[in-house]
Amino acid sequence: MKNIYQNAEISKIFEKDIPFVREIERTCFGEKFHENFEKLIANDSYIYLLAKVNNEVVAYAGASIEYEQSDLLYVAVKSDFRRQKIASKLLLSLFEMVKNRGAEEMFLEVEEDNTSAINLYKGLGFVFLGTRKNYYGDKSAMVFVKKL
Ligand SMILES: CC(C)(COP(=O)(O)OP(=O)(O)OC[C@H]1O[C@@H](n2cnc3c(N)ncnc32)[C@H](O)[C@@H]1OP(=O)(O)O)[C@@H](O)C(=O)NCCC(=O)NCCS
Repeated sequence: MKNIYQNAEISKIFEKDIPFVREIERTCFGEKFHENFEKLIANDSYIYLLAKVNNEVVAYAGASIEYEQSDLLYVAVKSDFRRQKIASKLLLSLFEMVKNRGAEEMFLEVEEDNTSAINLYKGLGFVFLGTRKNYYGDKSAMVFVKKL
């Protein structure tokens, strides 16, 4: 099998990439969901990265930074490109970037039934902290943290 992981290029999200990122957002999180990427990429308190394979935007991830703490906000990969370690590569770059900006740990919340994301986070060294009941309406969130 072609090693897509090696080919995936990671970079910041620029204005020109936003329509492609939005399309991934729509297919992964639904029509109702709309991040204001224009604002977020211009704000120093956030880092948003994307992954390209053969020049196609196939994934993105974002985190916020506040002093020594950061929060992972999103990670999403186009369905055809999943299970090729692209999210892993993207998140490893994100860890480096937030660490270089002074963050010492990263927190995240994830829906309790999102097995693929939970496995991804555990594999990257996130440790389960606890549960937030009904954080997503009727679903609870699992909270994880990772030392950077
Ligand atoms: C979760 C998501 C980002 C993973 O992206 P990915 O590029 O496929 O992840 P990776 O290939 O880096 O996977 C790394 C590890 O995560 C786990 N994992 C990923 N997808 C999985 C799945 N469908 N089932 C079980 N474990 C899974 C595995 O442990 C995997 O390692 P392995 O393939 O060696 O077993 C992707 O499935 C996605 O975009 N989901 C929809 C959006 C979403 O729910 N995002 C998270 C909340 S913001």
